[in-house]
This record gives sequence, C-alpha cells and structure tokens, in this order.
Amino acid sequence: MINPKLPAFWYGGDYNPEQWPEEIWAEDMRLFKTAGINIATVNIFSWSLLQTAEGSYSFDRLDKILGMLADNNIYACLATATAAQPHWMSKKYPEILPVDMHGRKKEWGGRVNFCPNSRKYREFAVDLVARLAKRYAGHPALVLWHIANEYGTYCYCENCARAFRKWLQKRYGTIEEVNARWYTSFWSQTLYDWEEIPTPSMLNVLFERDGRLETVAQGMLLDYQRFMSESTLKCYTAEYETIKKYTPDLPVTTNLMGPFKPLDYFSWAKKLDVVSWDSYPVRGEDFRNTAFRHALMRGLKKGQPFILMEQAPSQTNWRYHCAQKRPGEMRLLSYQAIAHGAETIMFFQLRQSRGGPEKYHSAVIAHAGHEKTRVFQEISGLGRELRDLGSQLLDATGYAQAAVLFAWENWWALENSMGPSRGIDYVKEATRYYRALAGQHVGVDVIGLEDDFDKYNILAAPYLYMLKPGIVDRLEKFVAQGGTLVITTMSGLVDENDLVTLGGYPGELRNLAGIWVEELDALPPEEKNRLSVTGSFRNSFPSAVYSCSLLFDVIHPAGAQPLAVYERDYYAGRPAVTVNNYGSGRVYYIGTCPENKYLDVLTAVLCREQGLKPLLPSVPPGIEVTKRIKGNASYLFILNHDTKEQSVELPSGSHTELLSGKTVRGKVKLPPYGTLILHS
Ligand code: GLA
Ligand code: ZN
Repeated sequence: MINPKLPAFWYGGDYNPEQWPEEIWAEDMRLFKTAGINIATVNIFSWSLLQTAEGSYSFDRLDKILGMLADNNIYACLATATAAQPHWMSKKYPEILPVDMHGRKKEWGGRVNFCPNSRKYREFAVDLVARLAKRYAGHPALVLWHIANEYGTYCYCENCARAFRKWLQKRYGTIEEVNARWYTSFWSQTLYDWEEIPTPSMLNVLFERDGRLETVAQGMLLDYQRFMSESTLKCYTAEYETIKKYTPDLPVTTNLMGPFKPLDYFSWAKKLDVVSWDSYPVRGEDFRNTAFRHALMRGLKKGQPFILMEQAPSQTNWRYHCAQKRPGEMRLLSYQAIAHGAETIMFFQLRQSRGGPEKYHSAVIAHAGHEKTRVFQEISGLGRELRDLGSQLLDATGYAQAAVLFAWENWWALENSMGPSRGIDYVKEATRYYRALAGQHVGVDVIGLEDDFDKYNILAAPYLYMLKPGIVDRLEKFVAQGGTLVITTMSGLVDENDLVTLGGYPGELRNLAGIWVEELDALPPEEKNRLSVTGSFRNSFPSAVYSCSLLFDVIHPAGAQPLAVYERDYYAGRPAVTVNNYGSGRVYYIGTCPENKYLDVLTAVLCREQGLKPLLPSVPPGIEVTKRIKGNASYLFILNHDTKEQSVELPSGSHTELLSGKTVRGKVKLPPYGTLILHS
C-alpha cells in the first residue's frame, strides 16, 4: 500500500486552485466528493506564488488549500513546486538558466527550464522544500510527496561542462583513458587536457541530418547522457533527502513518463519510494503499446505497485489533433493501468484552466463548470466502482512467466550509432517482442539489466547492443538452468563505451547463440526479404513463409540449427533465425526484423516448449488478460479493447466478478471497452 493513511484506491489528480478565485474552491470540493475523488495533487507550479522574492515567502494560500482538503476528507499529494522557478530568480541568478544544444542561453519561461548542475537552483529548491516539509509534516491531509514535475531537460552550459569533466575524471582517472574509451584517435580528436572537453552540442560533435540528431562522438555523447541523467537525479535526491529529514515515513515520488529517453529510469527508481508516471496513449494505438509502458514502469521497482499520476480524462491539448476519449474509453484505460499494477487513478487535471497553453486540455470539471458533462459522469461512475473495490486489490503483485529486457544505456548507445540503419528504433522493437509475448497471455514483465532473470521461463532481449560487464554470465546461467533466451540482430556488438567487440558478431553472445555473424545488411523498410521456415520446425508454423525487413544478418551457424532461412538476395538459403541448445535451455537468435505474425507464432512455440499455460484457454483478438496475486487470492483482469462486443470463455468453475459482484461461469459477453475482474 502506498500509504496506509489512505487504505483505498487513490482517485484524483492535479489540482491548481491558485488559478482560481477562492469562491470556486468550495464548489470544487463539492464536485470532487460527487465524483468520488479522495486525493488532489497540489502546489505543482506554485513556486512564484510561494516565494515572491529572495527571502520572502508566503504560505497562506497553500495553508488554506491543504486545510480545505483536510476538512473535506480529501488527501493531498503535495508537490514541491520546483519544476518551474520564479522569473525573478532566473533574472537574478542567470546561472540557473540552461543552455540548449545549439549553445543558446535560455531566458525565463516554460518549465523544467533550469540547469541540473546549477548550485543556485539546487540551493533554492532545497530551501523551499525544507520549508514545506517542516511546515506540513504531520498535516492531516498529506499522504505523498511529489518532487518537481517531469524532469528531463539536458543542459550544455559551461557549468555543466566543468561538472562533466569532474565526472569523467572520477570515472576514468586519466585523460589517456578518456582517449581510449572515446576512441579519439579517429579524426584527430586526441585530448591532451581536461579543459579541452566541452559539452557535446551542436557547436561541436552533434549535428542534424534528415531531421534526426546524429553525432560524430558516440563515446562522449553516451557519457554525457549518463552524466545528465545522474545530474538531474541529484536535483531530485537533494529534495528527497531534505523531505526525509522532516517526514521520514511519507512516501516520495516524481512523475515519470514511460520510455522517456533522456533519463535512465532504472537508476532513478532506486531513489523513488514508489514509481509514478503519466500515461497519454495515442488515439488508436495498439493497446499493447500502453501495456508495454505500464509493464516498464512496474518493472522499474521490481513489480511493486505504481501510481498512475496523470492521464487525460478525455482529450489532451498537445497532440496535432486532440481526439476525445470515446465513452467508456477512459474507464477501460483506467482498468488497464490497474490490471498492470496501478494503485491509483489520477488525472491531469481536476479543473480545466481558463487560460494558458492547457486551457483546452480535458479536466474532471470542464469549462462548463458543473457535473452535467459526459466526462464528469464517467469519472463519477468510475469513482463509485473504485470506492466499492475498497482496498482488496492493493498490494497485489503481477504474475509473469516471460520478460522483456530493457536498458536505457543500451538505448542511448544503439541509437547514437551511425549505421547500419537509421530505422533502428529500440522502443519499437522492444514493444514488438513484448506485444508478441503478451499475445500468448502468459503474463509479461519488462525488466532491467540488474533484475532477476531466473524467475522467468522466457526472456527476450531485443537489440541488446551493449554488453555491460557481468551480463553475459547471468544470461548464460539463465539459459543453462533451462530458460529460453531470445536475442536479435544488433546484439552484443559493443562494450559499455560503444567499442566493437572483435571476433565476429554478436560478440560475447556468440557462444550462447551458437553462431557468428559475418556482415549486417540494412535495407529501406519497403525492401523486404522473406523468411522460409525450415525442416522440422515447419510443423509448428501455420505458414511456411513470413516477411522480414530492415536488418539482415549474414549468419554462420556454429552449433545452432537454422529455424528459418532467407528466401532472397545473395544470402538466400542462409540462416536468418537459429536456435541453439545450451545447458538445459535454448537460445533463439533472430537475425532480422520479422513481421509481427512471425513473432506471434515463434513466441507461441516458445511458450509451448516451456510448457506455459495461457491465463485463459482462448482469447479473441482485442482482449487483454493479466493476473495479479495477493497471498492465496488471484485477480484475473479481462479487458476488451475492441469497439465490438466479444465473448470470452472463462476458466472452468465459477468466479466472483468484482465490479458487478455477480457470480460468472462459462462463456461471457464483454461489451465494447468492457472489463471483468475475476476473483478466486
Ligand atoms: C504532463 C504534465 C502536466 C500537464 C500534462 C498535460 O504530463 O506533467 O503538467 O502538462 O502533461 O497533458
Ligand atoms: Zn548547465
């Protein structure tokens, strides 16, 4: 449970009463209670109101807001307000303002507009947070701290350059070592003095080609990404530690954003008491993309339940075309979050702004200002259901027999690289493998490099480009003990400094895969090849031929068996997919990007080989099934993402359906966007 002080599903969202005259606040309270809201995130963007000048503070408004919430039995997720510093502060201490990658010093405005290495920023932030924590420790409304908001701005200023040099000195010791790691003998880049190291920007090693950022200094950029993620994390931890001095028992978080490239969330999560994140699915996207993001966020803290900190009640304001959520869609997406481990459903935002960039973003209370709106009614309906669920789902953990490996440093290195293809997209490929495995309904986690592999039967590690020390041993152990490992093209190529491992690809994974790769062809996505399923494997595949694209490894088997061969080009007849027995397990190597249909069949074969049973015997397309477990109880979530009614055959026996309270058995109908939660 996130905080036993509120032992229920948390339901609410961002609330910005400072944008409104106080007369409105009482009406807000009435409407919140009508909607079943029990938590409000306050103070997110109030720094300029709290600190009107250096040394001058005013907490009266926040006192009133928190007091009013407490009086109305609504709890507070208290934000530290440090995502947007006051203008006077930026003006007085320009070192706080960041420099962008073009070398331009930013002026005031916007948010997350500070240099993460600015000492002044951190001092001001910590000072404010200390005052807040001291003042509100023990406040009856307070259940959670929310530090800043959506961190993630990289800075390229002189101050960051200095800090970067220090960071490098600590990491590598000597300038010679930096030269070796960054491979500076290439293009006469040899460094003789630490002072020669700038921040990697558009003024030096970054450039744009065809709308995409590229670099001529992969090793340097990779270290800068590590450094910026760590520097930003230090802003967070400075606040975290301050808060803990005053309120050691209150949980602390900051809102993450799914697969957000600039920050290595696996290292961030170690410093979060609970993961929280903001989910904004794109209209019409595959529901498994959203599922992947939830699984990734759940995986950051080893499956611990998470907070859905924000979702839109209906439309956002920042898409090209801001579609509304259709009737029932918000409810379904909420249950999807819960099915994946969320213990809160929270919205951005509770009352729609009158002005500013987000005035057309949906809210619980719309511009109409009353409860007679479709969105409000749907939110109230969900509020009643969540209230009735009580605390029984809290602390349930996910059930998973397969996992997909995801690593930020790997993502950075893979996509920093020039060649072999600019079509390489880490998140997309990881999502495709997640999608295929999740489609087998066996429960799928997304995990990091440091997590325990051995509790899964199947581990997919698509595009595991960079091998950090120790990882191969752990993968070998996993397979030797009977696990199924899936690795792909673009794997094992480099070490942690993006230096190629010599001797043939996939480097240190050669032994596990039982192959070596001589060359790697890359073609435009429309120039497809075909996979022809070979010999004994043909029985398992409904079709003999599948398409594949983008990358084509030229593979030499060295112990592995071909599972599919290329049909075309000079490498026709050569293996494209192989399987290798290793200890008691098997390693599948996918030397190309096969179409989804192929991955669907392949993952079905893997599940069968591992003897994995699906959570439901047969699942129509458009239906998602997940399971959560708490002690002896299990909760099976069946979600209909389709806009058509679907029939589902339930597991044998009778079950209590939590949302209706009814007993169900056999074949049941699920309306469009319908949800069942079976308790047994
Ligand atoms: C983000 C932010 C919010 C708000 C919403 C709008 O998630 O955290 O402050 O801007 O987007 O969708
Ligand atoms: Zn800076």
